[in-house]
Amino acid sequence: MSQVFENRMDSALPHTMAIVRESLGRVENMLVGQLQSDVPIIDEMVRCGGATGGKRFRPMLLLLAAEANGGIEDHHIMLATAVEMIHAATLVHDDIIDSATTRRHKTTINNRWGNQGAVLFGDYLFTQAFYLASLTGSAEACQIIGSATNRVCQGELQQSDAAGNFETSVEDYYQIISRKTAALCGCSTHLGAYSVDARERVNQWYEVGIKLGLAFQIIDDVLDYTGDPATCGKTLGTDLETAKPTLPILLALQTSPESSRADWIERLSDGNAEVDDVRAWLHETGAVSESLRRGKSLVKEAIAFTDRQTPNVSAAFREMGRFLTARTH
Ligand code: IPE
Ligand code: IPE
Ligand code: MG
Ligand code: MG
Repeated sequence: MSQVFENRMDSALPHTMAIVRESLGRVENMLVGQLQSDVPIIDEMVRCGGATGGKRFRPMLLLLAAEANGGIEDHHIMLATAVEMIHAATLVHDDIIDSATTRRHKTTINNRWGNQGAVLFGDYLFTQAFYLASLTGSAEACQIIGSATNRVCQGELQQSDAAGNFETSVEDYYQIISRKTAALCGCSTHLGAYSVDARERVNQWYEVGIKLGLAFQIIDDVLDYTGDPATCGKTLGTDLETAKPTLPILLALQTSPESSRADWIERLSDGNAEVDDVRAWLHETGAVSESLRRGKSLVKEAIAFTDRQTPNVSAAFREMGRFLTARTH
């Protein structure tokens, strides 16, 4: 496990790490082991951030849900590793789409090896994830992962189709993020709980991941305008550059008077809006605070269920919820 990762998460998430530290260490080792290749460029891509340096939020969700549903077993380690590989693959491809140059405090794969290298490396990560999931021998786990990954792709395509369209509805925005981000978080808590017989309980765990995933993306969409790139460790401001109709923008448009609304739509779609002006507008219209309120409220809903679990699991989810909603400016 990398030193930076260990220190950062140990101090930020002590309750969570107390439960998952040992298992996360196994996930880290499995990630490195499974991605090893005798093709030198692949090893270099892995080292350069393709699979290192992330917060491991999705493996944490999976492992916590497993802990709450009979305990963490070997197959959970394999599934948590597979889910993290899929997440890494989506980021590698996402950085091509967003022309991002920094990810996880390092240069992006596309920035160093070009889009061609990044497409192929993303594919390598995806295929390795499915191979690893198949080693568990669980067709159900493979179906859960396959279906979630498919939803992520649908969401990314839907988002790409909505680019530049600021008439996109808030409902469509929620549909996009429920696919592109929440699906993999829901998949994680689902995989932690899927071997439990009670269907309703499994669904409730799935919903915990979905709600946290929605909150996660809403807050990320605020941070794209208000965050500090050095703290976030990734290129920010790409949502404006790629003209994405994200929640803060859609809410600001809703509350703006008709005349200024039309003006903003024109500037945003033509790429003529300065990020400082947009940030000020998002604050003035209350769009930042309303987006954050919605993110926090989703976290609260998720936690209402996890609060009914054992004290250690409940404390871990409360802590993750606080962690998600704390980084808001
Ligand atoms: C970033 O996810 C992409 C979004 C869904 C907003 P993370 O913030 O979990 O990225 P890493 O894995 O910690 O780098
Ligand atoms: C999340 O969207 C990307 C995926 C779910 C694949 P973003 O484009 O907002 O993610 P960041 O901000 O680049 O991490
Ligand atoms: Mg991006
Ligand atoms: Mg973002």
